[in-house]
Amino acid sequence: MKVLPIYVYDHAILKKKAQKVEQMDESTRIFIEDMKHTMHNAEGIGLAANQVGSPLAITVIDISPVEGYESTKPLVMINPEITYYSDEESDYEEGCLSLPHVRELVIRPEAIQVSYFDEHIKPQTMQADGLLARVMQHEIDHLNGIYFTDRLSQLKRTLLQAKLRRISKGETSADYTIVLPDGSIISGDDEE
Ligand code: NI
Repeated sequence: MKVLPIYVYDHAILKKKAQKVEQMDESTRIFIEDMKHTMHNAEGIGLAANQVGSPLAITVIDISPVEGYESTKPLVMINPEITYYSDEESDYEEGCLSLPHVRELVIRPEAIQVSYFDEHIKPQTMQADGLLARVMQHEIDHLNGIYFTDRLSQLKRTLLQAKLRRISKGETSADYTIVLPDGSIISGDDEE
């Protein structure tokens, strides 16, 4: 398994809507394993394929490292679609591997229903709430070219602009290897 470099703000691929996966082949299977490995290596709890440079509509999620969610099973979601949002909303401080050191409270629906294909290409429908529903929404947003910061108020986004611009210029640090908008690669602090 490979650790893939993670694309950061504001690389063009992070603004693109993902393409549906039409068929599962060996290279896609290997890619999904690499995505899981990359997410765990970066200590993330979710990762979307465009964050590692692929246009495919795939996300991997594993919230089991978070206290209180140890028994939550990891998920692979292919072509996910949210089919229901609860009226009830909640807020939670989100971060993103593509936005190192940015953390903000984001308001989202508390519960969702989502349809997707699992890694065996079996159709699944799942209801989720709490942290799992939040991470699903965050990752599916990525597949639609949306950052969590796009969900903030205009004021908060304005306040974040300089910080985001510094990330895009590589004036940031991460334990994992990142790809800047111009394609240059910066090795992670943990790597050679
Ligand atoms: Ni993210």
